[in-house]
Amino acid sequence: MVEAVTSYYTETPGCGGRSPHRWGSAVTLMMAQTRQAVANFISAPREELVFTLNSTAAINQVAHGIRWQPGDVVITSDKEHNSNLVPWLQLENEGVVDLKQVSSNEDNTFDLQAFEAACALAGDNLRLVAIPFTSNLDGVTNPVTEITKIAHDFGAEVLIDSAQAIPHNKVNVKDLGCDYLSFSLHKMLGPSGVGALFAKQESMANLETMSGGGTTIISASKENLEFLPGPARLEGGSSNYAGIAGARAAVDYLTNVDFGWLSDHEIRLNQIITDGVKDLDEVTILGPPKASDRGGMTAMLIDGIDVHDLAIILDEAGSIMVRSGFHCVNHWFESKGVTGGSLRTSAYLYNTEEEARQFVDVFTEAVSALG
Ligand SMILES: Cc1ncc(COP(=O)(O)O)c(C=O)c1O
Repeated sequence: MVEAVTSYYTETPGCGGRSPHRWGSAVTLMMAQTRQAVANFISAPREELVFTLNSTAAINQVAHGIRWQPGDVVITSDKEHNSNLVPWLQLENEGVVDLKQVSSNEDNTFDLQAFEAACALAGDNLRLVAIPFTSNLDGVTNPVTEITKIAHDFGAEVLIDSAQAIPHNKVNVKDLGCDYLSFSLHKMLGPSGVGALFAKQESMANLETMSGGGTTIISASKENLEFLPGPARLEGGSSNYAGIAGARAAVDYLTNVDFGWLSDHEIRLNQIITDGVKDLDEVTILGPPKASDRGGMTAMLIDGIDVHDLAIILDEAGSIMVRSGFHCVNHWFESKGVTGGSLRTSAYLYNTEEEARQFVDVFTEAVSALG
C-alpha cells in the first residue's frame, strides 16, 4: 500500500479525468481500475461506487443529498458513531427530518422488534433507515439483512454504515439489498483520507451533489447546468489520487484474505482477552458476554480507574495500543451516566495469540497497580 502511494508521486503525479498526457492518462486509468477493484470487493457495479474523503463524508453526502419531504422520518440506533448521528441531528435541528433512535436490547444487541415497531409508527413518513453494520462501541454486528428487508417493506431506503464491518466480514451489497453503504479505506489496511459510498443507481441519481465543480459537469452556464451521470457528479474537484492508488493495493491484498479464517482468528484472540479480563472486579465488558458475539472487539468499563491512564501504561509498558474514551459514541455513554468512557481492544489480521496474552498480563498488572 505504501509503495503504491509512493509510486503515485514518484512515477505519475498527475490529475485524473482531465489531461490526455502520460501522467494524466495513467491516473485516469488507475482511478477506473481502483473503482472497479473496490466495487468488486463489495460485489457492486463500478458505476455505483463513489470515492469520498471517509465514511463521514459518504454519510453526509447521503444526508445532505436526499431531497427530503416535509415529515420525513430517519431511524437510527442508540449506538451510532457520531458520523451516523450528527448529520441526522443537524437535519432534525433544521426541521428537515424527524430522527428516531431505536433502543438496543439489555445486552446491547439490536432490538428487531423495537425497530419494526418504530418503522410501523413512522408509517408512510419513514424515508431512511441508517444503521451500522458492526458497532464500534462494542463489536456487536447487527442483523442488517433483516433490517433492510423490514425497512424496504415500509418503503424506506437503507444506509448501512459499514466502517467497522468491511475490514472483518465479506460484504456483498447484492445480498444485503441496501441502497447505500459507506466505508473508510484506512480501516481496511488502506491509506487515510479515502472512503467510499456505494449507492444504487437510482438512489445515486436522486442525490444532489455536495461537491459541484470540476469534473462533475457536461455543461455549466446560466442557461444550462448539466451534470455528468454516475459517480463523477459526486466527486467534484481533484481527488486524493495517491490515496486512491494505495486503496487499490489494500483492496487487492484483502481480496486474497480468507474471511472465514479472519473471523476465527479475531474471535480466538478476543476469547483470550475476554477470558483474561472478565473476572477482574474492576471490569465490565460491554455488549454480550461471549467473545464470538463481539468479533475481534472487547470494550470494557473500568471501575475506579481512568481509562486514558490505563491506555498510556499499556503503551509504555507493553507497546500495546488500545482505544480509550468515548469512541465517538458520546451520546451512549451520556445516556448510561458513564462519565469515564471505556477501554477497547480490537484484534485484526496482523495480531497474534501471543499479543493477546501479553495484553492480558500487562492489563491485569496495570489494573491491580491503579485499582
Ligand atoms: C462505525 C463507524 N462509523 C463511522 C466511522 C467514521 O469513519 P471516518 O472517521 O473514517 O469517517 C467510524 C470510525 O471509527 C466507525 O467506527
